[in-house]
Amino acid sequence: MVGVGAFGRNHARVYRQLEEAGIVRLVGVVDADTTRANTVAREFECKAFGSVGQMLTTHSEVQAASVAVPTVLHLEVARDLIEAGVDVLIEKPLAATLGEADELIRLALTHQRVAQVGHLERFNPAVRATLPLISQPMFFEVHRLSVFSPRALDVDVVLDLMIHDLDIVLTFVKSQVKEIRAVGLPILSRKVDIANVRVEFETGCVANFTASRVSTERVRKLRFFQPRQYISIDYGRQDVLVFSVGDAWGTQPIFIQPSVNPQISMAKPPVTAEEPLLAEIKAFLQAVEERSKPVVPLEDGRRALALGLAILQEIARHAGRVGVGKN
Ligand SMILES: NC(=O)c1ccc[n+]([C@@H]2O[C@H](COP(=O)([O-])OP(=O)(O)OC[C@H]3O[C@@H](n4cnc5c(N)ncnc54)[C@H](O)[C@@H]3O)[C@@H](O)[C@H]2O)c1
Repeated sequence: MVGVGAFGRNHARVYRQLEEAGIVRLVGVVDADTTRANTVAREFECKAFGSVGQMLTTHSEVQAASVAVPTVLHLEVARDLIEAGVDVLIEKPLAATLGEADELIRLALTHQRVAQVGHLERFNPAVRATLPLISQPMFFEVHRLSVFSPRALDVDVVLDLMIHDLDIVLTFVKSQVKEIRAVGLPILSRKVDIANVRVEFETGCVANFTASRVSTERVRKLRFFQPRQYISIDYGRQDVLVFSVGDAWGTQPIFIQPSVNPQISMAKPPVTAEEPLLAEIKAFLQAVEERSKPVVPLEDGRRALALGLAILQEIARHAGRVGVGKN
């Protein structure tokens, strides 16, 4: 596990859990901050290293690694691993620029490594339960609000938080982006801390995204409409609510509750709660073992990054036009 700061420690915890289940052997944790590496290594009973190079010289048997160093260092750290023949799970956003993302894709291909990007919400059981229900999404309303913490300030809120929802909507809609309108402001950091974005797709679908890391409450919701259906996902509670008019259900085998209006039925598809990070790492290890394409390949990380960067350009354009803030 490379980079055991705020989020990387969670990866180490999950690898330790999988080690206890006999699925994997956690060789060690790497962090440039060796005090941090030692603390986390003690907690999860593994070795501590100060760099990827140090780990690889003593442990050439390492087959797979997660990378959760700051985004601007993803390429540098993942390159060392990939070139040494290690499969990688790289945290989101895949990289800070499209050039870096392309280089990561090229490296993985050249060295034939399994490479996955950490778009965690793909493994949220509520999202997984929604996938088979998608018909023709036409309108999304997405909110991801969190309280301020002085972390991940090397990137704007669009690449830090909104990128989760960009990836999910791109996965649901499966269409090219036609137009972007966006507004965003730095509030407590020097980067954009709050943003509101309207994305129109070639299919005519419109998605509104709001992301904030300076909120007083924590909200993670995605709601969308498709013909005669309204579907609401609460990522945090891991539940899905589906409202359908008439026979929009077709033959979907889902428990339907009668509602006040007989024309409208409300359903709660069964969702088996699971920690998304555990599901993500298990999927990564399965791809490593089977030498198969991961559920969320680097190309998907690049796709979300491209949209995120285009949104940031729009935010900068808007700020320049109205004469406020600075990206
Ligand atoms: N999937 C998610 O929901 C999610 C949530 C939070 C963060 N993240 C991502 O995880 C990554 C890390 O974020 P964080 O909040 O944990 O940051 P952080 O700053 O808390 O941790 C980063 C750690 O990397 C270490 N580090 C820096 N350079 C290193 C190097 N060359 N080699 C080894 N270690 C090095 C630092 O010492 C630090 O301990 C970011 O890409 C972020 O976007 C993902």
